[in-house]
Amino acid sequence: MLNIPLMSNNISREDVEVLIGFLRGTDRFTNGPKVREFEKAWSEWLGVKYSVFVNSGASANFMTMAGIAELYGKGEVIVPTISWVSDISSVIAAGHTPVFVDVSMKNLAMSEEAVLKNITGNTKAVFLTHVLGLNGLSGHLTAELKKRGVLLIEDVCESHGTMTQGKKAGTVGFASNFSFYYAHHMSTIEGGVVCTDDEDFYQMMRMYRSHGMLRENDDGGYKKRMQEAYPDLNPEFIFMVPGYNMRSTELNAVIGLNQLGRLDGQVKKRQENFAAFLDGLDSRRYYTDFDTEGNSNYALIVLLRDKDPELFKRISSRLSEEKVEFRRGTAGGGNLARQPFLRKRYPQIKPEEYVNADHIHFYGMYTGNYPGLEREKIRGLCRILNTL
Ligand SMILES: Cc1ncc(COP(=O)(O)O)c(C=O)c1O
Repeated sequence: MLNIPLMSNNISREDVEVLIGFLRGTDRFTNGPKVREFEKAWSEWLGVKYSVFVNSGASANFMTMAGIAELYGKGEVIVPTISWVSDISSVIAAGHTPVFVDVSMKNLAMSEEAVLKNITGNTKAVFLTHVLGLNGLSGHLTAELKKRGVLLIEDVCESHGTMTQGKKAGTVGFASNFSFYYAHHMSTIEGGVVCTDDEDFYQMMRMYRSHGMLRENDDGGYKKRMQEAYPDLNPEFIFMVPGYNMRSTELNAVIGLNQLGRLDGQVKKRQENFAAFLDGLDSRRYYTDFDTEGNSNYALIVLLRDKDPELFKRISSRLSEEKVEFRRGTAGGGNLARQPFLRKRYPQIKPEEYVNADHIHFYGMYTGNYPGLEREKIRGLCRILNTL
């Protein structure tokens, strides 16, 4: 039996020991100096000016879309049909209108032509997801969006360490979101972060994280001006924006700081695992020609070339027998246009028109790729997939 879980040992004994040591010596447990230290270390690792640590990647999505609406107004936001639910629910919740596009088979990210075709005078942003560690962004798309004055937001929740255009993914757009949930490249148990070089957006994110409170804004001049503008309010309780409570804790930040030291080494191992997997797969049966340059693999992608439901069924039952954990349709559950929360809201939506997303939905899945995955297991997995 192959026995490959989706993730193994992502919170190490050493993380736990460091956390216990921290707990013994502290009397501050929520959002405080360790959170700031982690934000600084993360910003340096990524190569951005500012990071705001929150309690999940979904929270990062919700705050980002709300902040865009607050600073730039509501409008159309172009979203992919292969992504995660919060990349679309955050758009709807902020009062924007999602405009759906199909994805490319080369990198599973939104198709460049479809994005450019769907830009209108009302487009506020493109919310691009780097899927399963593959770079989803070309220099051409980045430059076009800049030229047309459309904000680019990168969701990098599945792609920590992926490179795009010679830089880390998450540094190219106006803002980016990461998740530190258990199965991801690094973990704070639960957690996420919003990153940006834009000072106004950063201050907005600090306020959104904490009930929209002015006191979270660390621009002293702005704070003073607002306190003077609202003399009837207690300066400690001035709510500037309709914010949330999406704070994380010192405990999560301590784990994050410890994990960050291991991240680059783990990214390398996962890359090597993915290369060995693609090398072993029969390319007549499976897509193996992804654009892997700069990838930071999240999971081994099994995507049939042909629409062959019988083969897909055979693979599913054999992997279950072998105790190989898998998820159908990539991390987000496949073609999001098929999901009830969208079909109810947008009855005109025709999921089958997103041809590539639909192919991934019915004939795609991923299995776990974690740093300690043995080469022998990867070979065994390929053997099974090639002969079924
Ligand atoms: C692309 C993407 N965005 C956002 C999220 C949400 O992250 P979290 O699970 O930390 O809320 C996920 C989920 O893992 C994801 O895959």
